[in-house]
Amino acid sequence: MMSTGNANGKTKQETTGLVISAAPVLVTGAAGYIGSILVRRLLDRGYRVRVLDRLMYGDDAIRDIFAHPRLEMIVADFRDRMVVAHAVQGVSAVIHLGAIVGDPACAIDEDFTIGTNFEATRIIADAAKQAGVGRFVFGSTCSVYGASAEMLDETSVLNPVSLYANTKIAAERALLDMRDAAFAPVIMRFATAYGHSYRPRYDLAINVMTAKAVKNGQITIHGGDQWRPFVHVDDIARALVLALEAPVAKVAGETFNVGSDEQNHQLKEVGEIIQRLIPRAEVLTNDLVTDKRNYHVQFTKIRETLGFTPTHTLTESIFEMKAALDTGEVLDYQHRRYNNYRFLSQIVHEVAQQHRPFATSPIAITSTMEQLMFAACDDWGREVDSSR
Ligand SMILES: NC(=O)c1ccc[n+]([C@@H]2O[C@H](COP(=O)([O-])OP(=O)(O)OC[C@H]3O[C@@H](n4cnc5c(N)ncnc54)[C@H](O)[C@@H]3O)[C@@H](O)[C@H]2O)c1
Repeated sequence: MMSTGNANGKTKQETTGLVISAAPVLVTGAAGYIGSILVRRLLDRGYRVRVLDRLMYGDDAIRDIFAHPRLEMIVADFRDRMVVAHAVQGVSAVIHLGAIVGDPACAIDEDFTIGTNFEATRIIADAAKQAGVGRFVFGSTCSVYGASAEMLDETSVLNPVSLYANTKIAAERALLDMRDAAFAPVIMRFATAYGHSYRPRYDLAINVMTAKAVKNGQITIHGGDQWRPFVHVDDIARALVLALEAPVAKVAGETFNVGSDEQNHQLKEVGEIIQRLIPRAEVLTNDLVTDKRNYHVQFTKIRETLGFTPTHTLTESIFEMKAALDTGEVLDYQHRRYNNYRFLSQIVHEVAQQHRPFATSPIAITSTMEQLMFAACDDWGREVDSSR
């Protein structure tokens, strides 16, 4: 599949799929739950990959591939226009995954969330378009459907119930408005992910329920009637590669739900599945519904257009996570590093306790949360680009 591009390192993506060239694919958020799997998939397929990530949750997920000969690292904040202008130079495509992820994490500081999820998406897309990058694959979410009793597809009315979903909708719209003959945004609305990753996350429904069943012997389901589509994190990475490689005419300006009809479940059903697999776990229900999201999603379009069907099952993945918890690969699933909300909110708390001075940064500081984060992590905002 290796092929050389033209003199600009550009590829023949107009009529065929993206042909692997000397020009790297830029992946933002590559040290995250999904990105750390995607990057390895791209490297395995022969791509050059340029990572842009501020390593908000550390570098554990990608440290072992830093020295890969086809990987370049830019450790920096993608809200910084200068950083982004540099990062998009000479890339064949962008896969933009970096974000503040999840309803609770996004609610901590609204300005920070809007700046990261919406404004930065526009900054990256503008820069990519100016640099002549053709394809821009965007990681959105089925959370945009919010709460609905209907069966939902990509044309359905959106009914967001959180800032997280609203920032993703705003970003989707901004990207689609930018579409022209040369710039092809592709919107990928992921179902709720599950499964083990190089950056494990135990703030996702199936993952946290599995961990509680294994470690505490008890799960509490809030409500339980809510429908939710699920998809394995590795299948998301596969879908992203399909969006990257499909003929541009098939995907330009298109939105795809990423998941499968069969993996729509009510939360109480998920509890039953986990209990069947981990029989000693007790499942309790609580009528208090803390998460208002309820959406049942169709995945016909991605199946018919990109030939995508998931390869992973809930059962296999629950056993995989159980093994990671049993063997001590994940020692404390409640550690803040596995939970976006806990991580971000604890930083606020710790810095407030310690009265630590705020670090200076080249990036415009726009919110309190922002200042606290820079104070807590001395090395954030630093660009340690090495052209490896
Ligand atoms: N995990 C899911 O269930 C799920 C579901 C639907 C959609 N998504 C979307 O997929 C994408 C990836 O999700 P994830 O679960 O891998 O997230 P994650 O929280 O594990 O990782 C996010 C990454 O983005 C980076 N990042 C955040 N702000 C940054 C900034 N300003 N500059 C540079 N890097 C920055 C972080 O350092 C981190 O490595 C997100 O856009 C998310 O909205 C995820």
